[in-house]
Amino acid sequence: MIDIEVVLSPALLHLAEVKNKNVVVIDILRATSTICTAIHEGASSVRAVDSIDEALILRNQGYVIAGERNGHKIEGFDMGNSPFECMNGLLTDKKLALTTTNGTKCITAAMIAGASHVIAGSFLNIDATANWLKTDNKAVILLCAGWKDKVNLEDSLYAGALSKKLLNFNQLKLECDSTFMVLDLYEKAANNISEYLTKSSHYQRLSHLHHQEDMEYCLTENKFTTVVGQKNVEMFKIN
Ligand code: MLT
Repeated sequence: MIDIEVVLSPALLHLAEVKNKNVVVIDILRATSTICTAIHEGASSVRAVDSIDEALILRNQGYVIAGERNGHKIEGFDMGNSPFECMNGLLTDKKLALTTTNGTKCITAAMIAGASHVIAGSFLNIDATANWLKTDNKAVILLCAGWKDKVNLEDSLYAGALSKKLLNFNQLKLECDSTFMVLDLYEKAANNISEYLTKSSHYQRLSHLHHQEDMEYCLTENKFTTVVGQKNVEMFKIN
C-alpha cells in the first residue's frame, strides 16, 4: 500500500511532510519533459538550478547551460527549454544545468525538504515511473509545478494520470482530497488530453511563442522506459 498526496502548487509544499518520501515533480510543459528527454538522449546528468547566476557558474565547470524565463530562452545560454534542443547530439555525455520559471525550483525545493528521491514526472515515461514507484514502495508526493504558485491544468492532469496508474496496481492510500480532484480531472480529460489542454493558460502562452510542436511532444505517452531521478544534486537514469 502506497500513501499518495498531491500538492497542487509549490506554495502548498510547506504543508506536506516530505522527508524520506519519493517526490515526483511535475512540469509537463516543459521542464520535467525536457529533463527526461535530455537523459534519454545521452546527457550524463541534469542539474536543476534556481538562478541564472548559478547556471553561469556551472558553465565554467563544464556544464551545458539551458533555461527559460516566462517561456523565452535566457540570453547567452546554450539552449532554451525545448525538448527538441536536447535531440541534436549536443548533450551526448555532457552534464546539463537547467533553470526554468517554475519546474527546476520545485526540484530543488523537494530536495532541500528531504525527499528520498526526486523524480522528473513526464507523460514520456509515465508507465516506467509508475512501475518504479510501485517497486520502491515508499510514500509518494506528486508536486505540481504550476505557474508562479498558481495551479495549472497540465500538471494536475498528469498527477491524475499517474495516481490512476498506481490505483490500478491496487496500491494506493489516498492522503488528501487533492488526489480525488486530480483523478476526477483525469477521468474527464483522458479521452483526448491534447484537446482538453488547449484551454490551459500555459498551453496558450506557449502557443503564442510558437511552441506547438513542443507541446504535442510533451503529451506523448511512453516514448521512454527511462526513469529520471535525483541522487545528491544531479538527476540521472535510476532504473
Ligand atoms: C517552467 O519551468 O515554468 C516551464 O518549464 C516553462 C516553459 O514552458 O518553458
